Amino acid sequence: MDKMKILVIGSGGREHTIAWKLFQSPIVEKIFIAPGNAGTALVGENIDIEVDEFEKLAEFAEKEKIGLTIIGPEDPLVKGIVNFFEEKNLNVFGPSKKAAIMEGSKTFTRDLLKKYNIPSAEYAAFENADKAKAYLKEKGAPIVIKADGLAAGKGVVVAETIEEAEKAIDEMILDKRFGESGTKILLEEKLIGEEASYLIFSDGKNILPMVSSQDHKRIFDNDFGQNTGGMGAYSPAPIVTKELEQQVLKEIMQSTVDAMAKEGRTFKGILYAGLMITKDGPKIVEFNARFGDPEAQVILPRLESDLVPIIQACIDGNLNEKEIKWSDKACCCVVMASGGYPGAYEKGKEIIGLKEASKIPETIVFHAGTKKEDGKVLTNGGRVLGVTALGANIKESIDNAYKAVEKISFERAQYRKDIGQKALKIKQP
Ligand code: AMP
Ligand code: GLY
Repeated sequence: MDKMKILVIGSGGREHTIAWKLFQSPIVEKIFIAPGNAGTALVGENIDIEVDEFEKLAEFAEKEKIGLTIIGPEDPLVKGIVNFFEEKNLNVFGPSKKAAIMEGSKTFTRDLLKKYNIPSAEYAAFENADKAKAYLKEKGAPIVIKADGLAAGKGVVVAETIEEAEKAIDEMILDKRFGESGTKILLEEKLIGEEASYLIFSDGKNILPMVSSQDHKRIFDNDFGQNTGGMGAYSPAPIVTKELEQQVLKEIMQSTVDAMAKEGRTFKGILYAGLMITKDGPKIVEFNARFGDPEAQVILPRLESDLVPIIQACIDGNLNEKEIKWSDKACCCVVMASGGYPGAYEKGKEIIGLKEASKIPETIVFHAGTKKEDGKVLTNGGRVLGVTALGANIKESIDNAYKAVEKISFERAQYRKDIGQKALKIKQP
């Protein structure tokens, strides 16, 4: 492949990780990140354009002769940024609007999975609170209530009692907590088991698996407190054994890609399955249409192959001709967040110790909500850093990551102390 300039769209830990990986590619001439953060500025040039400014982004790509644009977050994908770029003959990576609906509408996805017999939770969709409550009476608690559309990870309530479930229904439908589009809701069977994330590359027909990983969604240790975007992750997830992986690839991932093609919604991009490993086998909790955050932080450091030819093969439809190599090392990412997150938090706190942390062997400090001002790195979001480390095994990667975390400080920093502990409880193969 010829050398090319790449544009990465987004500003989180995931986008820093993608840019960091691209920086190692001999094919990459220069990386631009829109809008980026203080970390992406270390490997490329930040561009002051927001992720929803499609016109400006496409203009920039044309002017700079960008060879490939990679979309990080779900919002622009669901709104059709890939179609917008393709109409201008720009080379872009991510699912089209018709395919990104897998993340944009939970009802669409549940209906698809049901139609094609792909293992998932039992569910029903409602736009009327009384009807939802009647179904709730019939099914009882525990039960899961979800807003249909995007809600930045906040649109899910796992209700243990009927009262809790009724409150969630009222908030979503009557109080319009997630706006007009959030008044369509799903009531789902609560799946019991261990969660794992499984991501693949897809060219619409062929798939190439990534290594397994696991996120930690709740804010506090031992999975207490509110759901967040993700407070840390590790890879591999030992719960995903070789046999289980084969089953997931065939019965879930390939079947879903095939189903989307049959529906005229060819899925090119990264398909991310949130799985629940139940006693009846793996079931789908959700699909995302992009890299996970912080899953990307623990998957991409394990990728030995160049990312660019794999992405290009997804776009060109010849992924079957590509091989992908992964490191046997394990990886752990501990997210350091602003005090108060996922609720209200303050920004602009100086971050100390980044250099010292990077000196810990095998460590990479990925930035999420950060910005540089007057030579200082300041906090600029809820999730601030993804302190990431490799290791010969999960235990070593956890130890390395926490050694680096200890070097870093900012006012009211919070992080979980138990990232990866679940993996240590599962016997390693
Ligand atoms: P989602 O936004 O769909 O990823 O859901 C956020 C979190 O809610 C998941 O990671 C699960 O922990 C939980 N969750 C969602 N749906 C279910 C379900 N049907 N059964 C059990 N837990 C669920
Ligand atoms: N880590 C969860 C997500 O990226 O949606």
